[in-house]
Amino acid sequence: MRKKVTVVGAGNVGATAAMRVAEKELADVVLIDILEGVPAGKALDLMEAAPVEKHDSRVTGVTGDYSEARDSDIVIITAGIARRPGMSRDDLLTTNMKIVGSVVQEIASVAPGAVLIIVSNPLDAMCHVAYDTSGFSKTKVIGMAGVLDSARFRAFIAMELGVSVENVHAFVLGGHGDTMVPLPRYSTVAGIPITELLPGDRIESIVQRTRQGGAEIVGLLKTGSAFYAPASSAVQMAEAILKDKKMILPCAAYLQGEYGINDLFIGVPVKLGAQGIEEIIEITLTAEEEKALKDSAAAVEGLVDDMKRLKNAGE
Ligand code: NAI
Ligand code: 2OP
Repeated sequence: MRKKVTVVGAGNVGATAAMRVAEKELADVVLIDILEGVPAGKALDLMEAAPVEKHDSRVTGVTGDYSEARDSDIVIITAGIARRPGMSRDDLLTTNMKIVGSVVQEIASVAPGAVLIIVSNPLDAMCHVAYDTSGFSKTKVIGMAGVLDSARFRAFIAMELGVSVENVHAFVLGGHGDTMVPLPRYSTVAGIPITELLPGDRIESIVQRTRQGGAEIVGLLKTGSAFYAPASSAVQMAEAILKDKKMILPCAAYLQGEYGINDLFIGVPVKLGAQGIEEIIEITLTAEEEKALKDSAAAVEGLVDDMKRLKNAGE
């Protein structure tokens, strides 16, 4: 049987993710949005590109009809509002917690076996909404942020050293925000740690640019946030799961004791395969790296507490 990937939110990230899934022939794609016509129009446009791009994935677009998502293997959730200049990811909390909650409720009823890949911001907090609302196992609710943040880190390292991006591997852990934790010690070019290739001040400047990577794009686009790299990142995760690749990628996962963190979604290296998160990889951190991860976890915890307060206040 053909695999099915549903993408909720047919905006910039969602439509680009749908395109990449279809062009890689990973699955048939269902695009869902609340807007009339837009998901159907984008899906039809993608179907009309298929003869040129040479793929046979079917792309369907619907407005609010979750029956089309029935028995999806993977659901990528991009519904919500995106950042505009002057807004932080956290400013999106109140609006997006309601949107993600309502979307996940619909999805859980038609696709109870799906793996959820959450993209909507603030990412780590939205993973909590999806986990709590769906009742899915913690292995099947995964947040996309680390792949994107690491891809930015990798791109900047490749630009700095004038080498192929394919030679560069890097890890960014922690929450998807200003407290994210790029790990130069675990970042390599052809197996050589960047700490041996670049002076400390250049590494620090690349680390800072990575932390500000989302804001840099928002500042340039002015009307929204990044979408090509975010879509590629979500689709890499989907591909690892659909093909049971057992690929190790940094993703937001629900930690229960790992890294000394409890009951919190935060970015760590995980093994992705057919079951979703098949293992959380615990790497050794220096005292400084561990503190940075704990600080980042505290920032995510703050958002989770804010959501509880908003919920109790009936917002
Ligand atoms: P966008 O504004 O282009 O698209 C969002 C889409 O969601 C719109 O088409 C909107 O109509 C739809 N939508 C709103 N409420 C809905 C509902 N109840 N049901 C279904 N669809 C609904 O925004 P974009 O750029 O695609 O970003 C989407 C989200 O992803 C934002 O929250 C953004 O901050 C986040 N994001 C997260 C990243 C990450 O690394 N985790 C990276 C990039 C974006
Ligand atoms: C990004 O990092 C806005 O979270 C989004 O580009």
